[in-house]
Amino acid sequence: MPITTCVFDAYGTLFDVAAAAREAAAEPAFAAIAETWPELAEHWRLKQLQYSWLRAVTGAHDDFWQVTQEGLDWTLEKMNLADDPALRTRLLALYWELRAYDEVPAMLRALKDGGLNTAILSNGAPAMLDGAVQSAGIGDLLDVSLSVESVGVFKPHASVYDLVGEHFGCAKDEVLFVSSNGWDAAAATGYGFTTAWVNRGGDPVDRLPWKPAHQLRELSGIPALAGL
Ligand code: LAC
Repeated sequence: MPITTCVFDAYGTLFDVAAAAREAAAEPAFAAIAETWPELAEHWRLKQLQYSWLRAVTGAHDDFWQVTQEGLDWTLEKMNLADDPALRTRLLALYWELRAYDEVPAMLRALKDGGLNTAILSNGAPAMLDGAVQSAGIGDLLDVSLSVESVGVFKPHASVYDLVGEHFGCAKDEVLFVSSNGWDAAAATGYGFTTAWVNRGGDPVDRLPWKPAHQLRELSGIPALAGL
């Protein structure tokens, strides 16, 4: 089947998750992380994801805003920054207005001009996704933002990927699913989507039972993968 529907992960894929730490680090009030912000960003991201997986396997769901805060709190304590509540407040505020990667608007425009459906499928809570989409100015280039909150379990649970077919009425093999998270792209392959892993850091392929169908360094090649 030709691809009719392009579905994107949000954090790390369309939106630069390291931007919150990078931007805070450039502000004089937060000189304490001027050098260490990459470590902060990495710990924060990894803990946020670990907590999402652990909540999914134990059935202890709470929304992505909760695990985002919990991941940050662990990170601030780990880095001896827990005594700086203003830093915590600033990092969390910046998370609501993450920048989109530079190539995102033109890439989405090409998909829409080509007549394809476009969507976000994300762990993000609906209000978080709305904030990020609005601050990136890409709302008119996306048909819908689908959030795991409507099924109450995080990726890579199959019921999350089911949201795509339920919304668009399309078959799995009409979907190109795009994620910067190797585990998300791999699991979506296992689910039955055609997948593209956006591997900006040149990381090794995750050792999982499934592999992403395609690998790219950034998003400009997505319209071609979708057959445009
Ligand atoms: C998301 C996370 C996994 O947007 O990046 O779903």
